[in-house]
Amino acid sequence: MLRFDIITIFPEFFRTVFDFGIVRRARAAGLVEIAAHDLRAWTTDKHKVVDDRPFGGGDGMVLKPEPLCAAVEALTGAHEARELAGTKTRVVLLSPQGRVFEQKVAAELAEAERIVLICGRYEGVDERVVETCVTDELSIGDYVLSGGEPAAVVVVDATVRLLPGALGSETSAVNESFNAGLLDCPHYTRPVEYSGRRVPEVLLSGHHAEIARWRRREALRKTARNRPDLLQQATLDEQERTWLAEFDKEQ
Ligand code: ADE
Repeated sequence: MLRFDIITIFPEFFRTVFDFGIVRRARAAGLVEIAAHDLRAWTTDKHKVVDDRPFGGGDGMVLKPEPLCAAVEALTGAHEARELAGTKTRVVLLSPQGRVFEQKVAAELAEAERIVLICGRYEGVDERVVETCVTDELSIGDYVLSGGEPAAVVVVDATVRLLPGALGSETSAVNESFNAGLLDCPHYTRPVEYSGRRVPEVLLSGHHAEIARWRRREALRKTARNRPDLLQQATLDEQERTWLAEFDKEQ
């Protein structure tokens, strides 16, 4: 059982977002538990202040360290992140300054038992939070969201579907995008002809080896076209390198 605790100033944001599809099923099956907590619950002043102006001047507000670190301590029992080294607990700050969240990071998180997600807000989070009570600072991509909440949803979803038993068939995560370092191949369903375009004949042939070969080639074509950066890391065999050269000529 994996447990997520999300620290946010907008707990309502998460009220229904985990009630659908695979995440809903995984919760119902007892594979994962997800709770959202209001950061203001860990303030100690009358006005429940969670932010303040930045030292050094500038626009926007910065989330104060005390409520955030108190929340982390209450949820993990650890006062500092270094106490969590070697445990199955992770404390993740979502921010555009983080390490990029990729499929392999989701696979890492799926090994944990306890994950606290801190949703950043405003112009940022006091850096001492990062230094003392966070084990990982993660970004979901090179763009700026107005807060970490949508990023927390992304991290939960991508992680939960990797939990053993979360997907309908145990193998359905194996063939999808990124697993082999390439994008997934194109998929087709009925009708056989749509808008003047036919489904590739090989997919109708029932010839499994030919279909597998076609899928590998088309996954490679898709990757070369949309994500050539992924080809740098991928290990390609001779056939695949030949296909790549052919795609180049076709263009
Ligand atoms: N908060 C704001 N932008 C973000 C991003 N790209 N990833 C994670 N958290 C964020």
